[in-house]
Amino acid sequence: MKSVVSYPDRGKYGNNRYRGNCSGWLIKDLIDQYNIKGLSDYMVGSGTTEDVCNETGVPGTFLDLNRGFDMMTMDIPERPQNLFWHPPYGGMIIYSDQMYKAQDIINQYGFDPRVNDLSRARNWDDFVKKMNYCMLKQFSSLEKGGRMFVLMGDWKQKGRLYSMLCDIAKPGTLEQILVKMEHNCKSDSRNYANTNFVPICHEYVMVVRKDAATIIPISMAKKYSLDMRDVSTPIWRDVIAAFMEDEGKPLPLQELYQRIEGHKRCASNSHWKEKVRQTLQRYDLFSQTQDGSWKIGCSHHG
Ligand SMILES: C[S@@+](CC[C@H](N)C(=O)[O-])C[C@H]1O[C@@H](n2cnc3c(N)ncnc32)[C@H](O)[C@@H]1O
Repeated sequence: MKSVVSYPDRGKYGNNRYRGNCSGWLIKDLIDQYNIKGLSDYMVGSGTTEDVCNETGVPGTFLDLNRGFDMMTMDIPERPQNLFWHPPYGGMIIYSDQMYKAQDIINQYGFDPRVNDLSRARNWDDFVKKMNYCMLKQFSSLEKGGRMFVLMGDWKQKGRLYSMLCDIAKPGTLEQILVKMEHNCKSDSRNYANTNFVPICHEYVMVVRKDAATIIPISMAKKYSLDMRDVSTPIWRDVIAAFMEDEGKPLPLQELYQRIEGHKRCASNSHWKEKVRQTLQRYDLFSQTQDGSWKIGCSHHG
């Protein structure tokens, strides 16, 4: 196995009509590469992992919402040696009541699968929260020394990349990231009006290992906004340019002062007004209009 894997055909495992199913060859290769003696999958979908494990004689437990197991509310029934996890791709493909009837699950198991189906999360943030709850719950159940293989993808909507790999919690030791080429992905056959659009033709497998069981290191993405006026990293040119760009119109000097006053940058420099004037004079980027207002003057700002 190398860090880029590619399986043009998916093999006879699982069911290719179950949307978002994965290739059994990947699971076979992981079993070989990591010399796996036990592998479970609690979101097994159409049963790909189960089929591969049965064929290779690797024992495991195979569950899914479609088999009456809800990871959000139910206990993981064992301490698995290793886990394969292929979560839904955000809301790109809906599972409950699309791939299987919600009413069948209600009749058979007494709960509505739509409530905690990860693919039915309200939005990306809600999905990430649920995904990370499942990630940490599964990792906690893992035997010490065990590995978790997480197959996931990115998707793009309205000019924004929704990346599971970036947003997923990474507990334990990050051992490997594999790039898995995607074949026959929908985007292959589409014609994009927007020429900037780069079709996504790969997925990732993240491999994390549990080296310690009580104190688990975790790396998690945190999102916050940075106000250029409150941090010391940008130089004054960039602070002034930033709100001129956002404002989109020339600003009188007094207004510029007002925008900056009271922010941390001024607190640390009692001569900040001089600094603003000096900066405006110093860079060709800034120029004055007829009425003395200041504007940002490079070509793409008009
Ligand atoms: C990407 S699919 C797995 C596909 C599988 N690897 C295959 O080859 O068929 C994700 C699965 O997660 C399941 N799922 C979503 N939310 C769940 C939850 N809260 N508990 C258990 N399973 C869930 C869905 O029913 C779906 O089958």
